[in-house]
Amino acid sequence: MSWLNLEGKVAVVTGGACGIGRAVCEGFADVGINTVVADIDLESASKTAAELEKKFGGSHIATATNVTDKANVDAMVREAIEAFGKIDILVNNAGILIPRLLVDPAGKEELTEQILDKMISINQKGYFLCAQAVARAMLESGKGGVIINMTSESGLEGSEGQSVYAATKAAIYSMTRSWAKELGKHNIRVVGIAPGIVEATALRSEEYERAVAYTRGITVEQFREKYKNISIPLGRSCKLSEIANTACFLASERSSYIHGTVVNVSGGKSRA
Ligand SMILES: NC(=O)c1ccc[n+]([C@@H]2O[C@H](COP(=O)([O-])OP(=O)(O)OC[C@H]3O[C@@H](n4cnc5c(N)ncnc54)[C@H](O)[C@@H]3O)[C@@H](O)[C@H]2O)c1
Repeated sequence: MSWLNLEGKVAVVTGGACGIGRAVCEGFADVGINTVVADIDLESASKTAAELEKKFGGSHIATATNVTDKANVDAMVREAIEAFGKIDILVNNAGILIPRLLVDPAGKEELTEQILDKMISINQKGYFLCAQAVARAMLESGKGGVIINMTSESGLEGSEGQSVYAATKAAIYSMTRSWAKELGKHNIRVVGIAPGIVEATALRSEEYERAVAYTRGITVEQFREKYKNISIPLGRSCKLSEIANTACFLASERSSYIHGTVVNVSGGKSRA
């Protein structure tokens, strides 16, 4: 038996096809967890699942899941249970970031109802739909489980040009605490991970950099330079594997009394 003792567990990771979600899938596969790579991008999810099997062994499947669609999420949970007979761990991770100003005097990059609805739909409603469907399955199994919600340190710190994104992440802090109060008695732990500045993922696309630089009144080059020089006490950005390691620990019985709280993985940048 290994120290984490996660061999044979089953985890659903939303947005598992790339970036942080993929790194979490790799970390999980490495410690013997079988994963369900649930992503709106089925091609990348299938590629990820195949690569996990090749590199780490175990059994990994991909599902075409849009987390904003209840029927889709319910089908994903059914598929996972058909494949593995249970779900022990959910990582709510699929999220998007569209930088916009509350008011843009030039009228170029201003928040609209559509952009607000889109971010809330994926970053907040998506977490709710997946947590509800998976927690229901965990309750029916009678064996408990762990729900890990990926949030962001910006949820408590706020972020220039990213007010709605930060607000959706703040909502995840709150839902983590409330769901922990509801589900603890059923032996389902609910925890969050709040990364700070992370090595580049698809979320930091050219379009993201252009828009966020605009909202801060600087050029993309200045934004990139500023990003490199953000004061982080550990002096570097977070490796994706460091988020994966945190997820492995939180998924394991080694963290059996950590519940209803969010672990900051920000190198000391923020303390919330
Ligand atoms: N990258 C960062 O710097 C950072 C920092 C803090 C928190 N986070 C959070 O970590 C999570 C992952 O971020 P990332 O940087 O890996 O992003 P990413 O863009 O690299 O990956 C997101 C994944 O989610 C999938 N996805 C998007 N919409 C979906 C939907 N409706 N249904 C299912 N899947 C969907 C995408 O296909 C993609 O595979 C997000 O919740 C993000 O807010 C990221």
